[in-house]
Amino acid sequence: MVDRFQKELGGALDQLRGLLEDLQRLGIEQISTAPDPFMQPLCSREPESIGGPCRIETLEEIRADLGDCRRCGLSEARTRIVFGEGHQASSLVLVGEAPGREEDRQGMPFVGEAGRLLERILFAMGLSREGVYICNVQKCRPPRNRDPLPEEIAACEPFLRRQLRALRPRVIVSLGRFSAQTLLATSEPIGALRGRWQSYAGIDLMPTYHPAYLLRNPAAKREVWEDMKQVMVRLRHEDA
Ligand code: URA
Ligand code: URA
Repeated sequence: MVDRFQKELGGALDQLRGLLEDLQRLGIEQISTAPDPFMQPLCSREPESIGGPCRIETLEEIRADLGDCRRCGLSEARTRIVFGEGHQASSLVLVGEAPGREEDRQGMPFVGEAGRLLERILFAMGLSREGVYICNVQKCRPPRNRDPLPEEIAACEPFLRRQLRALRPRVIVSLGRFSAQTLLATSEPIGALRGRWQSYAGIDLMPTYHPAYLLRNPAAKREVWEDMKQVMVRLRHEDA
C-alpha cells in the first residue's frame, strides 16, 4: 500500500518536473502565484473595514451561515427559509417585507399574487425576475402575515445587510413601508419616503409602494411607475 503510494507520488513528481522543463524551454521562467481570492481572509462584516487583503463574503457563504436558522421565534412556524434569488451580478436588487403563504411553501420570494404583479412591473421596465435579485427583510413568514416584531427584525436584518454588501447593486428598490423603514432606519411614513432617492451604505435606494398594496389600491400604480421610471433612468446611466 505504502509502496504503491510512493510509486504514484514519484510518477506525479516526474510529470511535474517534465512540465516545468517544458515551460522553461518555452522561455517561461515564472509561474504567477497570485493568491486565489477565495483563499484570502474574509473582511469583517462591518462596512468600515473594507480594504486591505480581504474579500467580501459570497451569498453562498451567507446562506450557509444562516443555516437552519433558529435565531428568532419565526423559525417555529415557518415551512421554509426564503433567502432570496436571482441574478447575483444584477445592477438592481428589490427588497420586500417577508415571505407570505406561497413563498413559505416554495422557499422563493414573491411567487404569490403580489409576485405576479411585481413581475409585470419588471416586464414593463424591460426586466425579468431572473435578471434582477429579489429578497426580503425577513427570511421567514410571520404567522398570518402579521408585522414582524422588533426582535425578529433585529435577528434577521444583519443577513440582509450582508446580502446587499455581497451584491453591491447600482440601485436598491425597497417595496413597501416596512422595507423602507428598516433599511433606512426611519419611521417616516412610506407616502413621504416613496419617489425620493435615498442612500443605503452608499448605494442609491428608491423606496416605492409594495405590490400587495397595489393589489388593494390599483390607483397607486401610477406612483410606482413614476418611481420605477426614475430607477430606469439611473440604471441606464450605469450602462452608458
Ligand atoms: N410580500 C413580500 O414582501 N415578500 C414576498 O416575498 C412576498 C410577498
Ligand atoms: N402601506 C404599506 O405598508 N406599504 C405600502 O406599500 C403602502 C402603504
